Amino acid sequence: MVTTQETKRPPRRLDDVPGWFPVLDQLLFDWFLNRQESAGMRGDLLEVGVYMGKSAIFIGRHQQPAERYTVCDLFEGEAPDDANRAESTKSYSALTRRVFEDNYRSFHDELPRVLQGPSSVVPAEVEPRSCRFVHIDASHLYEHVHGDIGAARDLLLPDGIVVLDDFRSEHTPGVSIATWEAVLNRSLRPICLSTQKLYGTWGDPEPVQEELLAMARDRSDCHLSVQEAAGHRIVRLKSKGMQAPEFPPSRHAEAPPEPTPTPQEAPAPAPAPAPAPSTTRPAPRRTTSRARRVAVDLLPPVVTRAIRNARTGRS
Ligand SMILES: C[S@@+](CC[C@H](N)C(=O)[O-])C[C@H]1O[C@@H](n2cnc3c(N)ncnc32)[C@H](O)[C@@H]1O
Repeated sequence: MVTTQETKRPPRRLDDVPGWFPVLDQLLFDWFLNRQESAGMRGDLLEVGVYMGKSAIFIGRHQQPAERYTVCDLFEGEAPDDANRAESTKSYSALTRRVFEDNYRSFHDELPRVLQGPSSVVPAEVEPRSCRFVHIDASHLYEHVHGDIGAARDLLLPDGIVVLDDFRSEHTPGVSIATWEAVLNRSLRPICLSTQKLYGTWGDPEPVQEELLAMARDRSDCHLSVQEAAGHRIVRLKSKGMQAPEFPPSRHAEAPPEPTPTPQEAPAPAPAPAPAPSTTRPAPRRTTSRARRVAVDLLPPVVTRAIRNARTGRS
């Protein structure tokens, strides 16, 4: 992946923004958010854990007039405990708030409301029962994720959607425990699973699951299975060579101006006619071996000229 911090170039496409946001989840975010919007549901948006902005930029496209979009991240700030500091140093050391904001502004005119600090600040900053969509993708430590899920439950509107990232990765057992604990003990209803994320609600999952099943059955690029577990119906989706949904390019995507040709590079007045198709084998491309090039560079000019003339057939 080409990353903005590696190349120091501003992103031209969403793909250029470093981060973790698989194609299937892009499709699902669009689907859940579009569904809410076409049903006339209005509410705020929240992402906890933005890194350099990949999923935040994507969600920002769904912000409707009068809706508030809040994001929260530590960025380069202090983590609240040693374990959280260790995971931030290990995985997110290149992150600054400036990089996030520059990336975000490459795709949107206005920044979301940015909370810089641990996710525990969110409940005091976002109004209870105000959000229609919450994406939790911050610390992977159980205590933090437990808190983030509790906050999501209080901040979501009745049929709002919560998305929990990394609910099943082998390096994130804390997220798995907090997620399934929420399902078993905190009334979270799973809607579906992708490879990386669990989509759930504290409302009724059935109507949204029915529509999701219909959408997925219609697609040839999506594996689908339905399972029952502990009294929950769980729809599982998996990409089968899925393409990312369309996302408009950034403001940096305009083609660079063509360089003015120098006189030597100026095009010939009339193009040569295309050669007739040949049935003979094409002549092998002439390559100059490195050894020969070096030898030619080191020999006295008179010898070099003689070699060149011999190669071009000139005497
Ligand atoms: C996996 S990344 C987020 C990926 C991002 N959503 C994307 O699409 O690429 C996790 C982010 O959570 C942030 N983070 C870690 N611990 C946090 C905490 N306690 N509170 C808020 N943010 C935290 C990190 O700084 C990092 O940017």
